[in-house]
Amino acid sequence: MGDRAPGARVRARLALDRARAVATIDPRLFGAFVEHLGRAVYGGLYEPGHPAADGQGFRTDVLDLVRGLAPPVVRYPGGNFVSAYRWEDGVGPRGRRPVRLDPAWRTRETNQVGTDEFVAWCRAAGAEPMLAVNLGTRGIDAACALLEYCNHPGGTAWSDLRRRHGHARPHGVRLWCLGNEMDGPWQVGHKTAHEYGRLASETAKAMRAFDQGLELVACGSSFAGMPTFGAWEETVLELCAGAVDHVSLHAYFDDEAGDAAAFLAQPVALERAIRAVGAVIDRVQARTGAARPVHVAVDEWNVWYHNRRQDKERLRTWDWPTAPALLEEAYDVTDALVVACALNALIRSADRVRIACLAQLVNVIAPIMTVTGGPAWRQTTYHPLQAAARHARGTSLAVALDCPAYDGGPTPDVPWLDAAAADTGDGLALFLVNRHAADAIDLAVSFAGFAPRGVALHRTLSDPDPRATNTAAHPDRVTLRAGTGAALQDGALHALLPPRSYHVLRLAP
Ligand code: AHR
Repeated sequence: MGDRAPGARVRARLALDRARAVATIDPRLFGAFVEHLGRAVYGGLYEPGHPAADGQGFRTDVLDLVRGLAPPVVRYPGGNFVSAYRWEDGVGPRGRRPVRLDPAWRTRETNQVGTDEFVAWCRAAGAEPMLAVNLGTRGIDAACALLEYCNHPGGTAWSDLRRRHGHARPHGVRLWCLGNEMDGPWQVGHKTAHEYGRLASETAKAMRAFDQGLELVACGSSFAGMPTFGAWEETVLELCAGAVDHVSLHAYFDDEAGDAAAFLAQPVALERAIRAVGAVIDRVQARTGAARPVHVAVDEWNVWYHNRRQDKERLRTWDWPTAPALLEEAYDVTDALVVACALNALIRSADRVRIACLAQLVNVIAPIMTVTGGPAWRQTTYHPLQAAARHARGTSLAVALDCPAYDGGPTPDVPWLDAAAADTGDGLALFLVNRHAADAIDLAVSFAGFAPRGVALHRTLSDPDPRATNTAAHPDRVTLRAGTGAALQDGALHALLPPRSYHVLRLAP
């Protein structure tokens, strides 16, 4: 790369064929996650006394930014937090809710927001709640009580309690996570695969006795680098055969090594890990004969590294603060490109992945930031997520790419161009990232089964400074702007993609 002349171009060819569908894109690929952690809830979603707070104390300026992302699902309340959480502490009159110590983040939890408020907030945001049950310190009993509290119409102790709390109608929560990252030694109540698999399977059985139609997510690996990756999924899925619908996989990308090209390659490693988990699913299905399909839920993923070490140090020594600033990453242009590549990986994996949640949503490793008592703004990473959620509809198409590749360190053979495509029914959507730091990509896209007539939309994100961020003072320093240099000629799309840039294109039929 260093030998290339300035202004050199990488040539890439992309072939899209309407007949080569990967799968229908589940809109839930563009979900998010809210944990009781730092200022995600208190000072993020919820801040009574803020000039923009509604009658319930929720910030309407934050809600507006969330609505702009339109996350179809939001996972809650953790994360590591859930593994020691008593959900009963977070319901009922606020004045009577206990303050507890949260061992996951060594902070003080006031419980002023709990299940009822979160579900109401989700509905206001237009999102489906995805609730996690505590399989760390608790088990089947607490999980079933929460399910009954949320979903049973009335006439039982738990459902009548909800009604007394002012929620006559059941919350109707369909999507449930059976614990969080139970493979991780850091998790409160960490378990072996066998211990967890048995507990998850029995919890699923009991929860399904209430409602066969629930969608249940078993914990897979906290990341693909776990020593138990693969073996964990195999054991858990064997024990949960026929009982769960998804197995989770988490992925956090980092540039600790200071090697942006390797950083930009990490979403390719995620895609390969999804394929690996898919192979385990197929093997277990074949062995057990279980008919219920199992998909991969990438229900936590993001860039996370800017303050990670400092945060770890700080929380080791602090004295149980309430809602401290924690995991507050300021995302730059390169981070936005990594997020865009990860979204592309998820779109390409639409056959395996039905749910994915950017972790998280507000303040904590988040696309939305707030100042307590002050403004809220969009981080750089907000923009590719919003573009994917808006435009990656319909069917994911196989991407036949002919493009020079590079060695992304632990991730070999990474094409300079990252591409995903959707047949939206009313045209085509393309999502492109040029990973190259110096060279533009000269791209030609050919079509079979489509005859696009024009470029209906071209938006791009790039910046001369890869470290540029958005701030309260300059909230739109990095955003999507009108793109140039893409045109149809003789039935093919030609585009010149500047170094380190992201593009979303809509082609009209
Ligand atoms: O999202 C932050 C943390 O990362 C979550 O609490 C945990 O599940 C993961 O390790």
